[in-house]
Amino acid sequence: MNELRFFVDERKCIRCGACVRDCPAQILKFDATQHPAMVEDGAKSCIRCQHCLAVCPSGAISILGRDPMDSQRAGAEPAPEAMLAQIKMRRTCRNYRKEAVDADTLHKLLGMLDWVPTGVNNHSLDFAVVDDPAVMDEIRAEVNDRVLAMMKMDPLPPFAARMERYRKQILAGRDVIFRGAPHLIAVSSKADSPCPEIDPVIALSYFELYAQTLGVGTTWCGLAAGAFKVFPKLRQRIGVPDGYELGYVMLFGPTSLKYPRATQPGKVRLHSVK
Ligand SMILES: Cc1cc2nc3c(=O)[nH]c(=O)nc-3n(C[C@H](O)[C@H](O)[C@H](O)COP(=O)(O)O)c2cc1C
Repeated sequence: MNELRFFVDERKCIRCGACVRDCPAQILKFDATQHPAMVEDGAKSCIRCQHCLAVCPSGAISILGRDPMDSQRAGAEPAPEAMLAQIKMRRTCRNYRKEAVDADTLHKLLGMLDWVPTGVNNHSLDFAVVDDPAVMDEIRAEVNDRVLAMMKMDPLPPFAARMERYRKQILAGRDVIFRGAPHLIAVSSKADSPCPEIDPVIALSYFELYAQTLGVGTTWCGLAAGAFKVFPKLRQRIGVPDGYELGYVMLFGPTSLKYPRATQPGKVRLHSVK
């Protein structure tokens, strides 16, 4: 056994070769008895995706110390119609109840994040979660103060010109950036990870869809992301680690609105490549 603890239970292995065919790094081969084995130095190329464990029909493969019997089993996935309905019914929430998401729901939501895909299976994202609405209120006030102070600068930074209408709304006491949300989640990626721009966006897309199945509203928040990107002190406040870059921010919380029907968007531009 090597450092990856790749182990084949030969009593269970049916020698079908699914693991050999599916390994993205192609570091599995058949040994003399037609059981899978890792090639010499294979560990160096392994991206730790666990496809070998997941694809094995008889649960014969273990890697990284994981017992295949502890894995979620296929069969409980939503039907395609249910999945499509969920995608159609997803809405941006701007009507939050002034209360925290209950602990059990929050635990489920954050637990899901272990499964979001990342480029080259890198999984180095950092998730900053404001789980306490009182802390959210502090951050809300801090962001609004900084935006208002920025709007007094002379000359204004170029992007600030577009913020004038938000300044007016903040001064009128409207929570135009955070929409009254009791929580936020900010995702940062390691600057030197393989896909630093896209990984945070994928994570939040999964977060949003799953949250809404749990009755939790979500808002992609470009305004908050912009504020956190502009002000280093705000990134410090939410604990973005050194060497990480903030990707995006999503607000979330119990919602006070239900949508009885979906929208009817226009058709996307689509063309078939010949
Ligand atoms: C990348 C991105 C950034 C967004 N930023 C904000 C924002 O800062 N504030 C806000 O209220 N909505 C924001 N939205 C929500 C969009 O305005 C929203 O998707 C649009 O109103 C359509 O509503 P729907 O999501 O319910 O279909 C953002 C959406 C995306 C995808």
